[in-house]
Amino acid sequence: KILVLDFGSQYNQLITRRIREFGVFSELKSHKLTADEIKAINPKAIIFSGGPNSVYAEDAFKIDPAIWELGLPILGICYGMQLMAHDLPGGEVLGAKDQEYGVTDINITVPSTPLFANTPEEQVVLMSHGDKVTKLPDGFEPVAVSANTPFAAIQNLEKNFFGIQFHPEVRHSVYGNDLLKNFVFNIAGATANWSMDDFIAETIAEIRETVGDKKVLLGLSGGVDSSVVGVLLQKAIGDQLTCIFVDHGLLRKGEAEQVMADLGTGFGLNIIKVDAQKRFLDKLAGVTDPEQKRKIIGREFVEVFNDEAFKLEDVDFLAQGTLYTDIIESGTDTAQTIKSHHNVGGLPKEMTFKLIEPMKTLFKDEVRAIGEKLEIPHHLVWRQPFPGPGLGIRVLGEITEDKLEIVRDTDAILREEIAAHGLESEIWQYFTVLTGIRSVGVMGDGRTYDYTIALRGVTSIDGMTASFAKIPWEVLEDISIRIVNEVDHVNRVVYDITSKPPATIEWE
Ligand code: XMP
Repeated sequence: KILVLDFGSQYNQLITRRIREFGVFSELKSHKLTADEIKAINPKAIIFSGGPNSVYAEDAFKIDPAIWELGLPILGICYGMQLMAHDLPGGEVLGAKDQEYGVTDINITVPSTPLFANTPEEQVVLMSHGDKVTKLPDGFEPVAVSANTPFAAIQNLEKNFFGIQFHPEVRHSVYGNDLLKNFVFNIAGATANWSMDDFIAETIAEIRETVGDKKVLLGLSGGVDSSVVGVLLQKAIGDQLTCIFVDHGLLRKGEAEQVMADLGTGFGLNIIKVDAQKRFLDKLAGVTDPEQKRKIIGREFVEVFNDEAFKLEDVDFLAQGTLYTDIIESGTDTAQTIKSHHNVGGLPKEMTFKLIEPMKTLFKDEVRAIGEKLEIPHHLVWRQPFPGPGLGIRVLGEITEDKLEIVRDTDAILREEIAAHGLESEIWQYFTVLTGIRSVGVMGDGRTYDYTIALRGVTSIDGMTASFAKIPWEVLEDISIRIVNEVDHVNRVVYDITSKPPATIEWE
């Protein structure tokens, strides 16, 4: 196992992920871990992540000095390297005149260094730092330079300490993966013997140990994350798990029934389905502002959930399908919140559950891999992202049952046609939006004055940025014809050709 200590960089979880891809288990833990706690974890090596702070700042993240004495190999990345220079005798870190952000060349000056084994002497890396190591600690030597610093990489072979000023975990650092491999296998001596099966087995064992004979509550949304957590928990603790599935009336056509069939009937999950359509619609009546709609849906969701939860007796734990990316997207100290996502932090203070978040170190594709292993149906595992506020943010302006029916029906047609043309796996997310626009049309011999539906289809890796999908004209034509013919009150269909940024994926 390789332990990564977290100093706050947005990339830190990518480090653990790369290492897991090598078949070695790696996890991210707080920098507050003591040397004794680390000994108990018994890692092969430690990596110190990057971070936004200055090591010499008053509130800088410090580590237990005994960690330096554990005899474990250490790789310091960016902030991690500066921490090395700052904490170990003889070293010095200062604010740099020229901050260095972006890709740059480094030159390896000590070709025999094990960290850069089998990589070229000159290579491109991603630098991102404001501070700079100005003096190396005792026993260290520089092994790579850049135009900006004589200490792009440093080592102390006797102690097996390495420091690099750049980020090997991002793709911009062309040989970053090789470097991490060198550290993990050659320097730390780890063996590649970890797989998703191990993750599943370990997680199930951990859940059993944490939960004991207590009860767990889980909010199911029908998405892949909560479904996977549900099935994992079911395997771990069976009937000690109760799931609450809130049907807020803003789900897609057939979705609620599908969830009950797949997870309830299919996997035997104990699901309480709450039909709260009316409650949501009442609260949303007359509301047109998108952020206000989001807030109402979020708040109401929590309330409905609580009402049900309070009916249950002696539940100690609340499980959540939180992923690593949910934590970033909802705004960390450094990242700005663009829209208020409602799956994180929506818990009321008076609830005294202990949280179980078995997947909070994972990325979406890792969760899908687990879903496949657990034999969760394909359409659930590969379900396209669907926002918490659901169709509520796809009916622009005021939400009514009639309008919801229009989006539900048009969305179902879009999904059918995308599937019929075999495009499901090529488009990351696709849906329809009921714009508030009404326009004039002609149908048969009569004039119509009806709604415009917008089709949205995007390709994306993680939803943070996206390009509009280049759906073939013929497919768009089929979709348009079907929508206008089959759905009442729609006489015009348009295709959204903006990317993100500047637009967002959803319209509200
Ligand atoms: P935007 O519209 O911000 O969407 O470009 C990015 C991705 O996030 C989804 N989304 C949400 N997901 N709760 C969620 O769980 C939300 O409140 C929410 N809002 C947007 C959106 O569908 C897209 O995949």
